[in-house]
Amino acid sequence: MQGPKVKEFEKLLTKYTGAKFAVAVSSGTAALHLSLIASGIKSEDEIICPSLSFIATANAIRFVNAKPVFCDVNKYDVNISPESVEKLITKKTKAVIIVHQLGIPCNISGFRKLCKTKKLILVEDAACALGSEWYGKKIGYNSDIACISFHPRKIITTGEGGAILTNNKNYYYVLKRLRSHGYQDGKYYETGYNYRMTDIQAAIGIKQLSKIDKIINARRKIAELYDNAFKNDERFRVITCLPNTNSNYQSYCLYINPDSEINAKDILFYLNKKGICAKPGIVEIHKQKSFKEYNNIRLPNSSDMSKNSILLPIYYPMKKSEVEFIINEIRKFKK
Ligand SMILES: Cc1ncc(COP(=O)(O)O)c(C=O)c1O
Repeated sequence: MQGPKVKEFEKLLTKYTGAKFAVAVSSGTAALHLSLIASGIKSEDEIICPSLSFIATANAIRFVNAKPVFCDVNKYDVNISPESVEKLITKKTKAVIIVHQLGIPCNISGFRKLCKTKKLILVEDAACALGSEWYGKKIGYNSDIACISFHPRKIITTGEGGAILTNNKNYYYVLKRLRSHGYQDGKYYETGYNYRMTDIQAAIGIKQLSKIDKIINARRKIAELYDNAFKNDERFRVITCLPNTNSNYQSYCLYINPDSEINAKDILFYLNKKGICAKPGIVEIHKQKSFKEYNNIRLPNSSDMSKNSILLPIYYPMKKSEVEFIINEIRKFKK
């Protein structure tokens, strides 16, 4: 049940991010779904988003019967850019969903400018990016809509859960109604959902949020150890943030140069055999069975990243010796 802990958690989220309003919900996917309804997306509208993301980004577009239009990512920060999105805008385009992938901030000011000029709604899929920074401000600061996830794999967790951060008072009231059957002050205003966060989840979130700085600082130190170990090794490329931005390092992604003698699949198999829980890189949504009508489109950078990158263990409290063990195993690896 939703109660005072949810309110308290929402208040703490606004304090932490600088957003005016926060609406806690049952998942990051629910946050995306409600955001698209609240922003007035209609059937057949086109929404541009990356394919290199978790499938929920595009599923939410389908929940409102709109059409995802997949955009390729940059090679270096694994995010979409305003320039590549602009080329995909048509008369039917209504919104852009940017994803702060792996916690790496997407070009927010570039997208705000583009969306303002083209009169498009900008939704930030910030599922991975609570605590990431853009010019010294937290993701969600000054956003129209930024969707957070508290899934266990995220920077802080509530078991399952999510939140929408917004600076827009109208969105705030509509989102609060939509998460709870469209109900407000004795009336049902629209068809809503049961996407409420419970007080039990919020109580966990409050405790987790009190540790977020410690968690992110520790992750940044681990990422620095990985970066320093791999940045001058020509077999690898480290993923870099745009200038004046900083990731929360929800995930650490290592790109393996396809021209080198090793490949992502073999190195992953080797690390897993050594008991190191490395994971494959992000999958492309447009290659999935449930998106079969998109299977043949070409997004070369997304495919390259998906095929040639792996995610290395990063967590709080990971010991320096554990990071060094992983680095040594990767350095030792030969085909
Ligand atoms: C980019 C992205 N968007 C959306 C989601 C969905 O969040 P949730 O699992 O809380 O529904 C996730 C994560 O799981 C994600 O990584």
